[in-house]
Amino acid sequence: MKFFIDTANLSEIQQAQDMGVLDGVTTNPSLMAKEGISGIENIQAHYAAICSIVDGDVSAEVISTDYQGMIKEGLELVKIDPKIVVKVPMISDGVKAIRYFSDNGIRTNCTLIFSSGQALVAAKAGASYVSPFIGRLDDVSTNGMDLIESIRVIYDNYNFETEILAASVRHPMHIIQCAHLGADVMTGPLSAISALIKHPLTDIGLEKFLADHAKATK
Ligand code: E4P
Repeated sequence: MKFFIDTANLSEIQQAQDMGVLDGVTTNPSLMAKEGISGIENIQAHYAAICSIVDGDVSAEVISTDYQGMIKEGLELVKIDPKIVVKVPMISDGVKAIRYFSDNGIRTNCTLIFSSGQALVAAKAGASYVSPFIGRLDDVSTNGMDLIESIRVIYDNYNFETEILAASVRHPMHIIQCAHLGADVMTGPLSAISALIKHPLTDIGLEKFLADHAKATK
């Protein structure tokens, strides 16, 4: 399973990269705004800075909602760095844009996926990744994991190469459940990734090992 971090914060991206388990980054317009990044040049410079930190794919989202606008933006985004994956919303013009990008060798992440039907269409259009938002489904009393499971079955039935990128991950159990269900990638906050490492018995065990070692070497 690949681990992506879902943030535009350079310090958090660097921390995750330094952990040695990071495979990529996802951003969205809200995450960019949270960092105070606005204006085309600043946005492009920020994506370039993210790409200079990580080794893997970096999803950069288009703002346009019409086909021509998405194509124009996507073509500009991929000029920034070969790591850029164009993030396109699951709307009708978005599907057309994914088909265009796919036919032209440009990788895409189809975002805002909330149903397996949407994921099926994105795969048929040639999306490199689909992003089902599991946390936001949980927020409306719908089990986000059921969506991951359903997409996995559909993609395996037809050998679709589109990777399932479990998004809107909120906590470590989301990551573990996605791993059980065979999601190819998860994207989440640094807190969820770091929480995977923690276990009180590990801390207690280590404390005892070190105390015993100290006693023996007195
Ligand atoms: C996915 O690529 C999105 O950036 C993200 O996972 C959304 O997560 P949220 O629901 O926590 O905003």
